[in-house]
Amino acid sequence: MKVRHQNCSQLQTVVAAAAIVTLACILKTVAADEGVADDLAGDYCAKVGCCTERRDEGCSAPILGTMCYCDDFCYFNRTGSNDCCPDFMSFCKGVESPPPEPLQLNPKPKYTDKPNCSHGEVVNINCNECRCRKTNENPTLICNHNECLIDPSLLEAIKNQSRQFGWSAKNYSEFWGKTYDDGLKWRLGTLQSPEKILQIIPLKAVFHREYLKSSFDLRKVFGDNITNPIDQGWCGASWAISTVQVITDRFVIMTKGLMGDALSSKHLLSCNLDLQRGCQGGHLTSAWNWIRKFGLVTEECYPWDGRTTGCEVSNQRNSNNLIVSCPRSAKTAQLRRVGLMYRVATKEGIMYEIMNWGSVQAMMKVSKEFFMYESGVYKCSKLVSGSKTGYHAVRIVGWGEEQQNGKTVEYWIVSNSWGLWWGENGYFRILKGTNECQIEEFVVAAMADIGNFCNVADRSFREKASYTLNGTKIDIS
Ligand SMILES: *[C@@H]1O[C@H](CO)[C@@H](O)[C@H](O)[C@H]1NC(C)=O
Ligand SMILES: *[C@@H]1O[C@H](CO)[C@@H](O)[C@H](O)[C@H]1NC(C)=O
Ligand SMILES: *[C@@H]1O[C@H](CO)[C@@H](O)[C@H](O)[C@H]1NC(C)=O
Ligand SMILES: *[C@@H]1O[C@H](CO)[C@@H](O)[C@H](O)[C@H]1NC(C)=O
Ligand SMILES: *[C@@H]1O[C@H](CO)[C@@H](O)[C@H](O)[C@H]1NC(C)=O
Ligand SMILES: *[C@@H]1O[C@H](CO)[C@@H](O)[C@H](O)[C@H]1NC(C)=O
Repeated sequence: MKVRHQNCSQLQTVVAAAAIVTLACILKTVAADEGVADDLAGDYCAKVGCCTERRDEGCSAPILGTMCYCDDFCYFNRTGSNDCCPDFMSFCKGVESPPPEPLQLNPKPKYTDKPNCSHGEVVNINCNECRCRKTNENPTLICNHNECLIDPSLLEAIKNQSRQFGWSAKNYSEFWGKTYDDGLKWRLGTLQSPEKILQIIPLKAVFHREYLKSSFDLRKVFGDNITNPIDQGWCGASWAISTVQVITDRFVIMTKGLMGDALSSKHLLSCNLDLQRGCQGGHLTSAWNWIRKFGLVTEECYPWDGRTTGCEVSNQRNSNNLIVSCPRSAKTAQLRRVGLMYRVATKEGIMYEIMNWGSVQAMMKVSKEFFMYESGVYKCSKLVSGSKTGYHAVRIVGWGEEQQNGKTVEYWIVSNSWGLWWGENGYFRILKGTNECQIEEFVVAAMADIGNFCNVADRSFREKASYTLNGTKIDIS
């Protein structure tokens, strides 16, 4: 990159009179200093503002830690067209780039390449255990054939085409060596509810379209009071974590930051046992109903440890007594409850809901490449046809838009529950408005019940809390 900068200043001296070139160089230098975090986003050639017909190293932009070019040389002479910026064809040539080719993957990895092993030796290759057999002097590795969570050929294919896809993939050491089945079983954890529940009629929000902004992020409004994504570990508890984090956000928002302490996911995981399976998954509607009845203590009172253990908080149904003792401590905590769970539908309805009342919970269908997501706007493209999928529950905290290959791409900002090491600091972005991975299909929330905390509540929220359900006005508070 340094070499390129020198080229740039040489260029400035040579063509000192060409103001446009100078401008392009200044812009390019600024862009280079921004680092690579947002590399896949936005304009490249459009940003440096140049397209040249001859070879021009200066007419380039930083991308994924390297440079991409906007000169014809990138297209005709450099190997492949991979050196050109993603928006080269659309910005410089006025041609729409074709959709990415479907991926060609090796169906099964070959293990026969490296059989210099001694008889009886056991080696692990990714998620498979292999045993060495020596017959007729030729050693052979006999492996089991599990589908691995990190699939090297899929990973490489996504990396190769990440510019076209708009998102990049990564080999996470936490996932390396695990089977895909273990990923589906222990990293997700949302049980499909009966059809009847999935078809709950969504509330119809009454709003003015012009009121909805093109971007909104609860983290920017409430800062650290929007709690960071929790790492569920190898425990299928996304059903519990996403529900509890949404409720935590909603207490913060409805009390204008006064009730900011995180609520306990462990409490829900360990005590909501009816029809639920703890670390082996749970139903979202049962989770919301349980919290409406019994309430949650704070995270501090009953901290997360990634495991289910017997319930250690007494279930209080008597609404007058909200004080319970914390497990293994002399402290007490006040239970926090929610109102009736409701469903929100349509892109605008979901946006309106988040802006006014806080994050929402969404169910999504997860396939293998999602585990390898690193950054960018994820699209639930069918990269691997016929592969198994699983259901997951996540927390949507906002939305935004960016330019990709000359087009505006809208996305949701979503909190996952795999810790801060995954994705964009524990979050991911996913295409908005196209029901990507079914993420807009079953979106639910409930109002934080602040009736027992009236002194801290913002009363005005009650006046606004009404919806129209199929033509009938419904009061939520
Ligand atoms: C680049 O390719 C064009 C068209 O194929 C050719 O005319 C030109 O000489 C090449 N330039 C270089 C520097 O190789
Ligand atoms: C295979 O292993 C033997 C003994 O362990 C060693 O002498 C030989 O160089 C190895 N061959 C290769 C190709 O690695
Ligand atoms: C990825 O790109 C490399 C180098 O360009 C190539 O060797 C490899 O075959 C590609 N892999 C896939 C899966 O497309
Ligand atoms: C993935 O990362 C692990 C270590 O975390 C490493 O052993 C493995 O070789 C990597 N695999 C690929 C395909 O990069
Ligand atoms: C977050 O909550 C704390 C109290 O817990 C409050 O002092 C702070 O102002 C809040 N921050 C925002 C951005 O609302
Ligand atoms: C919604 O209202 C229409 C007309 O009033 C009625 O025919 C329909 O059955 C209602 N749907 C539901 C689900 O209540």
